[in-house]
Amino acid sequence: MLRPWKVVLGERIDSSRSMPIYLQIVHALIHEIERGRLPSGAFLPSSRELAKLLGVNRKTVVLAYEDLIAQGWLVSNGTRGTMVSDTLPDRRPAAPRSTQSAADERLDKPAFRFQPPPERPLALQGGTGVKLDEGSPDGRIFPAEILTQAYRSAIRRATRDNRLLYRDPRGAPRLRESIATMLKAERGLAVTADNICITRGSQNGIFLAVRTLIAPGDVALVEALTYEPAVAAFQACGAKVVPVRIDEQGIDVEDVERQCRAHRVRAIFLTPHHQFPTTVSLRPERRLRLLALAQQFNFAIIEDDYDHEFHFESQPLLPMASYAPDRIVYVGSLSKLMLPALRIGYVAAPETLIDAFAHGVSLIDGMGNTLTEEVAAELIDEGELRRHTRKVSQIYAQRRLAFADGLRAELDGVAEFRVPGGGLAFWLRFLDPAMLDRIEARAPALGVRFADSRSFRVGEAGDRGLRLGFASLREDEARAALAKLGKAARM
Ligand SMILES: Cc1ncc(COP(=O)(O)O)c(C=O)c1O
Repeated sequence: MLRPWKVVLGERIDSSRSMPIYLQIVHALIHEIERGRLPSGAFLPSSRELAKLLGVNRKTVVLAYEDLIAQGWLVSNGTRGTMVSDTLPDRRPAAPRSTQSAADERLDKPAFRFQPPPERPLALQGGTGVKLDEGSPDGRIFPAEILTQAYRSAIRRATRDNRLLYRDPRGAPRLRESIATMLKAERGLAVTADNICITRGSQNGIFLAVRTLIAPGDVALVEALTYEPAVAAFQACGAKVVPVRIDEQGIDVEDVERQCRAHRVRAIFLTPHHQFPTTVSLRPERRLRLLALAQQFNFAIIEDDYDHEFHFESQPLLPMASYAPDRIVYVGSLSKLMLPALRIGYVAAPETLIDAFAHGVSLIDGMGNTLTEEVAAELIDEGELRRHTRKVSQIYAQRRLAFADGLRAELDGVAEFRVPGGGLAFWLRFLDPAMLDRIEARAPALGVRFADSRSFRVGEAGDRGLRLGFASLREDEARAALAKLGKAARM
């Protein structure tokens, strides 16, 4: 009779896997030894026997045995054969976990304690069908050739100058200079490179800021409708997150004052340039009132300016950080202008805070990605990014109008919206919440996905609505996706 481990071994070897067969045998035997099914001193079958059993070449088994002998799992006992090393600690056979065969076992839970993610983890979203995202760029537009050239020259220069070693966690000096110059010239921020920390996208910047500003139990304000990952960052750092009312013009500053009188507020997160998700730009008088409140109640403002570059009707207001740099942590990103996958963001703040962020970077990932940072600096300094901004702005301006037409054609009388003056998304309010429920329930079966209307709300506060990005799909693609939404509404 075949011993059970032999059967299991056979099940773990699969020639269709990309791993070489001899390595599969090595892994399988180690697994059996670790589980106690092959105890110390046990003899293995001869290489010929095992090869026959597994239906593989004998040389493959010999290679596996040699490897295991070299690693110390097996020993060769002359003519008697090959046995499990008797210096290994003895292990009892593990109880079978379930009726599942070993080949089906999944590496699911670890054997030790860990902090599980929240019930609804933000990461790992998947799904099928067309995605109407929340305002991503079209990843097909950024010219691959320009990116390739920039990487090529960055690799050459950085290697020649020996700059691909461990370095300052605040980011590549050249990019910090470029970003500081750009923020000063184009957005009115009084900053130098010492006020800049390069981050892995703005999400990383938001987290570094929150981590530095918040101690467990501190109160942080966010708008009643906001960017969920920012709320999650506050919660991960132990903050008590309090939602503030918003209206058609953005954050309700009177409610901010009320909350400041009710709690000791440490920080507020907001997106004044294009409110996320509702897209409105915060009016100057509210900006000034908010700054006055920040002074009076001594809280920090995290200003997330995630898509500053896109404005289609008029020049944008300057960031709040341009007139109160010592009150604000200003967070920006190249994700929307270039590509989210490059993970280049930045934070502008007073120097002492930047040092604190640098400490955070050194804990999380040491120092960021020098090569991609050099590439971004190259593209900024050579004017490529400015050229690209002009080019995509034209494309997106057209897509914005076509998207509005599509929405009118498909959701007339169902949802209302304003054509956004800037940014890359529309905000849809539904006249009948039951219709929104129906659309959300039916859309997946029709092959169209979008962010859950509840995902923008903090607690039960705030309206529900859909945020639909218009930039990442071509006009024909967007039209087809919107037709599915329309169908979901009419079904
Ligand atoms: C409001 C807002 N903030 C931050 C981010 C994070 O972007 P990234 O980390 O890619 O810069 C996004 C991404 O969509 C966003 O919409």
